[in-house]
Amino acid sequence: MTDQDRLIAAARSAAKNAYAPYSRFAVGAAVLLADGAIVTGANVENASYGLSLCAETVAVATASAQGRLADIVAISIVGGLMDADGAAHGTDPIRPCGRCRQVLNEAAQLGGRDLDIRCGGITGDQVEEHRLSDLLPHSFGPANLGPS
Ligand code: THU
Repeated sequence: MTDQDRLIAAARSAAKNAYAPYSRFAVGAAVLLADGAIVTGANVENASYGLSLCAETVAVATASAQGRLADIVAISIVGGLMDADGAAHGTDPIRPCGRCRQVLNEAAQLGGRDLDIRCGGITGDQVEEHRLSDLLPHSFGPANLGPS
């Protein structure tokens, strides 16, 4: 299995832990670190809806908590609507929201690399490959705040 196939599989597994009782939309994300390690996240919703956390942000924050923010090289994202039994369905690729693109940009600039972003559905073979610089062109990041 390639690193990218492992990442999609890890994101699909992570999506099973989505806490999404309000939108019923389960999202899983898996970030690949430079040494091949994988860190995952799932969305965490809140009764105060606007406080909900996206799967990508949870995965990036978890990598950061391990001291690995600058080591992120790629991320896979999958999502789909849950049925009454809580199982998610959907083959359409899920792309990161605008806020998550900005969160990913911090890791990218810190590590001095563009990120590979693979987007899939919760099931199916339809997978899109993007670069962060294409999804978030002309970005604002740590370099704008002066030398670190
Ligand atoms: N969501 C993510 O986890 N990532 C995204 O990039 C887009 C949206 C979550 C937030 C919310 O829990 C649900 O999907 C519906 O918006």
